Parts: sequence; C-alpha cells; structure tokens
Amino acid sequence: MTKNQLACVVLAAGRGTRMKSAQPKVLHKIANRSMLGHILEYTKTAGSSRNCVVVGPNMEDVAGEAAVWDEHVAVAIQHEQLGTANAVDSARSCVASFEGIVVVLFGDTPLIEPETLKRLVCAVAESRSTVILGFTPDDPTGYGRLLVDDSGLVTAIREHADASDEERAIGLCNSGVLGFASGPLLFSIIDEIGNDNAQGEFYLTDVVEVGARRGIGTRFIECREDEVLGINTRAQLAQAENIFQDRLRLKAMENGATLISPKTTYFSADTETGKDVVVEPGVVFGPGVVVEDQVTIKAYSHLEGAHLRVGATVGPFARLRPGADIGEGAKVGNYVEIKNAKVEKGAKVNHLTYIGDARVGENANIGAGTITCNYDGFSKHHTDIGAGAFIGSNSALVAPVTIGDGAYVGSGSVITKNVTSGALAVGRGRQVERKGWVEDTRALRNRKRDAT
Ligand code: UD1
Ligand code: CA
Repeated sequence: MTKNQLACVVLAAGRGTRMKSAQPKVLHKIANRSMLGHILEYTKTAGSSRNCVVVGPNMEDVAGEAAVWDEHVAVAIQHEQLGTANAVDSARSCVASFEGIVVVLFGDTPLIEPETLKRLVCAVAESRSTVILGFTPDDPTGYGRLLVDDSGLVTAIREHADASDEERAIGLCNSGVLGFASGPLLFSIIDEIGNDNAQGEFYLTDVVEVGARRGIGTRFIECREDEVLGINTRAQLAQAENIFQDRLRLKAMENGATLISPKTTYFSADTETGKDVVVEPGVVFGPGVVVEDQVTIKAYSHLEGAHLRVGATVGPFARLRPGADIGEGAKVGNYVEIKNAKVEKGAKVNHLTYIGDARVGENANIGAGTITCNYDGFSKHHTDIGAGAFIGSNSALVAPVTIGDGAYVGSGSVITKNVTSGALAVGRGRQVERKGWVEDTRALRNRKRDAT
C-alpha cells in the first residue's frame, strides 16, 4: 500500500431530526441521488480505495444504500452519539491500520466537488500534516472557527458554543472535512480527545490541539461555501438541490447542449447529454437518461431510464419511462408514453399513444391513439411491430402480438392475432350504410305521432 492511498470515513449516525422524516437524513435525495450516494461517488472519483460509513443503531437502510454505491464499503455502528470524534472512533477497526491518507467527511455535506477533495488529499500528501477544508460563509453562526497563527498553521478549531466574542468574529470556518496523514496517526490522536466542552461531546475538531501537543501541525485549504452547505432541514435540502441543479445545467451546456430556459430544466445526477442537444423549457430528467448528439427534447417532457439516440426528437409533452430506447432520427410526439420499448431508427410515434413492452421497427409509422395492450391483469406481454409497418389511428394491439414488416393495420382495429408481412389487417365492425334511413325513420315517427 502506498502512503498516498486514500480511505474515507463518512459520518452518518445522526438521524437528522430537523428533517421531520421517517427516513434517515443521508437517504434524502438531491438530483435523484441520496446524499450518501453523492458522497460515495465523489470519494470514488477522488480515488478512495476504502470507504467506511458510520451509522447509528437500526440504520440498516443506510448500510444498504452505502452498498449500492460501493460494493466494498465497510459499515461501522456508533451505538451512542457522543460526538464526531466518537463517531470516527467507531470506524477504528476499518481504518486504524490504514497507512494511506484518511479523510473524514460528514454525511450531510454532499455538495463537495471531487476536485476539492483531491486538492485536500494532495495537501495532506505534500505536507504530511493534518489538513482542514475551510471556508468563509456569509454567516458563520454555528460553525467551528479556525484559529490560525501568523505562519498559517491552524492552532485550534473553536466550536461556536465554546467561542469568545473575539473568536466569533472570525470568518474562516471548519467545513467538517479533515484529512490525516495515516490511520494510525489519526487514531493515536483520537485516543487523547476528551469531552470537556460546552456540549460535553467528543469533538473531532480537538484533533488540532491534541496534534499540536504531539508536534503534528494542522493546515487548511479553502473551498466555496456552496460546496460545504450542511443539510439539516428541508429548506436546506431545497437550497442544495438548487445549487446542484445549476451545476448540472452548466455541465450540460459545457458539453454542448442548448438549454432554452436552464432554470426550468431538471436533471438527475447521472443524466448524460451530448453535443447539439436542444432542451426546451420545462423538461424533467429522472434517473438513468442518456441523450446522444443532435437530439431535440421539446417542452414539458418527462424522461426516466431512457436512451435517446442521435438526432431523435421527443415531445412536447412526451413521457419516456424506463427502458425507452429511441432510435436514430426517430420521432416521439405529444402525449405519447413509451415504456420498455425500442423505437427503431426513423420510426414515428407522433400523437397520443402508449407503447409499452414493444419494438417499433425501423421507419414504422404509428397512428394517433394507438395503444399496445401489454397487460392482461396477470402479466406483461410483448408487441413486435416490423420495419416499415403502418398502424392506423386508434388501434389497439393486444399483446402478445406481431405485426410483420411493412404490414398495415386499418384504423380503429383491435388486433389480437399476428399480422403477416405486407398484409392489411382490419379488426373492427364493418361499416354498413342504409340508404334513406333518416327520411324513412322520420316518416315512421310522424305516422306514430299522428295516430295517437
Ligand atoms: C460540525 C463541526 C464544526 C463544523 C460543522 C460544519 C465538530 C465538533 N464540529 O459541527 O466545527 O463547523 O460541523 O458543518 O465536529 N455525527 C455522528 N455521530 C455523532 C455526532 C455527529 O455520526 O456522535 C455526524 C452527524 O450525523 C453529521 C456530522 O457528524 O453528519 C456532523 O455532526 P453535527 O452534530 O451536525 O456537527 P455540527 O454541530 O454541525
Ligand atoms: Ca451539522
């Protein structure tokens, strides 16, 4: 193991009572990804080879979520919440012998840029000292202040509750992210931390003073305030969502997408968009959407788990659900819902249609109001529509059913049997016409009336 390897300890034992939620705080989502998921993603990007998440008792759901984002994650339980140093102590068996750099992060601080974490790791690697991620918030109330000497070394972190008026006037604050040169070093310092303070808690921030006594200096680097917003309430969750959405919007634009009204476009953390993509106002990207180059997504469309291939056009008011695969140059128009279906190259599904559990072959044309009847109340069935097929408006295709290549289905049909390639299938009542019926009926009624 090299000295510059990285392990991360994520403190998430707090339930977050101020969220007023049945769910632990770190499971709340930002851009459709849990706070914990965000953190485990950026520790991965920063090169962490070992993650340990500290949870409280009965927080199996948090442990489960951690495993979703990192299959090798270690989960440690802090039985009683005695403070941040005690929380780190709970992770002892996981990182105490780790010879590389150890970074401690808070589970409720999910907006840190991976680049910032990398900067912190580099600062620890270069100085071999403890490094704090500091920031200067507009309002420092509640945060621990960094006391810094003339040589730029941090001499103490003073918690707000313990700070004098003079110390409270300091703007530079502790974000909660701290980097240590090694696991054994961190735990030898933790061993010496007591709880003689205003809260009677074991403060992780005491590592500075304990370290200094042992000749281990503490430095700091700074980051933007928006990276270290701590989320304690729903209002802060909304604020974090806003900050993160702005980042995702910017990222999409930097990748070459035009967002006509960026503030009205909602992304998921994992949305991928290519070049010359146009997104009209009011579009929502749920999780798992990939948008290739030259795709246009018209106003007020909702997409989730969908893949849009080069040059496809979707919307306005389209709904793409998981498994929607829209082929090159294909068109999906207004009030169309697509689920678990492949709409192949050049196919058109332009109006008021439901396509579920299906394939729409290349260049096929699906008329307005077509429904694939995929569910019989017990299970889902597949509809296969061949290349170049033409489905007349207001048809119901009752699955399982296959429409051959180039076949036609007459408007208003209910198709329950397979249709051969090149054939025309019509499945509806035959049109009948009675000549003079209106006149005859009127005469009959008039006669009945005169007779009474
Ligand atoms: C902490 C810092 C403060 C810093 C601020 C930044 C300490 C003593 N103070 O204060 O300097 O400016 O964050 O937001 O570290 N946790 C546990 N177990 C515990 C206590 C806390 O897992 O026993 C977890 C919480 O779930 C949370 C994190 O540690 O994710 C921070 O704890 P919190 O009590 O919110 O610390 P602050 O008072 O905000
Ligand atoms: Ca906090």
